[in-house]
Amino acid sequence: MTCAAKASINLKALQYNLQRVRESAGNSDVIAVIKANGYGHGLLRVAQALANSDAFAVAKTEEALALREAGITKPILLLEGFTDGPELALLQQHAIDTVVHHPEQITLLEQARLPQPLKVWLKVDTGMHRLGIGIDQFDTCFSRLQACNNVMPSMVIMSHFANADDRSDPRTFTQLKRFFNATKGCDLPFSLANSAAILSCDESHGAWVRPGIMLYGVSPFIKGVASDEGLQPVMTLSSKLIAVNHYKKGSALGYGGSWRCPEDMPVGVVAIGYGDGYPRAASAGTPVLINGVRVPLIGRVSMDMINVDLRALPAAKIGDSAILWGEGLAVEEIAECAQTIPYELLCRVTQRVKFIEV
Ligand SMILES: Cc1ncc(COP(=O)(O)O)c(C=O)c1O
Repeated sequence: MTCAAKASINLKALQYNLQRVRESAGNSDVIAVIKANGYGHGLLRVAQALANSDAFAVAKTEEALALREAGITKPILLLEGFTDGPELALLQQHAIDTVVHHPEQITLLEQARLPQPLKVWLKVDTGMHRLGIGIDQFDTCFSRLQACNNVMPSMVIMSHFANADDRSDPRTFTQLKRFFNATKGCDLPFSLANSAAILSCDESHGAWVRPGIMLYGVSPFIKGVASDEGLQPVMTLSSKLIAVNHYKKGSALGYGGSWRCPEDMPVGVVAIGYGDGYPRAASAGTPVLINGVRVPLIGRVSMDMINVDLRALPAAKIGDSAILWGEGLAVEEIAECAQTIPYELLCRVTQRVKFIEV
């Protein structure tokens, strides 16, 4: 039998979700965020499928270079920026645009000898407190960049929201106000909106929106699922039943015997586990779709397998299909059962899983 665990990547859904971004932020250009291997979906396949976006954003220089090596000619923005002169030279050589989030990077730009200038996105920290120059540093940093021969005049100014995943959180508006106050007077295109802000905060749209998770068909909000936002799931993680066993009442299942059969019952074994990226933290009761029917996971997740309660599906048999998330089963729901976020589940599907495009 071939590899049972599969991640089916629906490229049409990816394109459909890009269209949803365009509908929500019609006046903005779209920089598709495809870092971390396209949120776990495959960097190149995602880049190729999103040929209608206006640019790509990645986090690491290696990701940007992989795109260039594959022949992607669209603008690419490096969200984490560079840390030294050689990396800066590499970016310039491959026409990779860069975020500047720290005065030390401006010094590196001032000291560099580059054959051509780079396009820079100046990142301001308006409350996220991760990357970005302080708002009180904005005027100085902006002037230094304007005066620097290695920087193209067509800069973009940007910031990132910390709480946009909660529509009712007033801190998003506070960040927005801080940004507009700090940058007023400089007539440059701006970029603020991640997926959540694209869908919930029109004032933040600006020249460039930066969707990530919504492209992959996942709700960016702490509550709700993709279908609430008119998004279609891109990844469906599936496998198969490789055993159906019948246990007596009181039998303890799996490592630690943490789950006991409340009665004589059929138990299915699905060939997927944390070695494939299915979260070990998924608790008993996490839904699994067997032949399209929701049944609960029981016992602990092991490296290669999980057990499922087949009392609702006594006719289930070896070879029957199991969907862990995606089509018909929201990854948002599984993330909640595993006390994590959908971003993490999508990113950590391992190489053992066979990726197929549908
Ligand atoms: C700077 C920046 N912009 C945009 C995004 C996209 O965010 P989301 O996936 O929530 O749309 C990210 C993702 O982490 C990011 O770091």
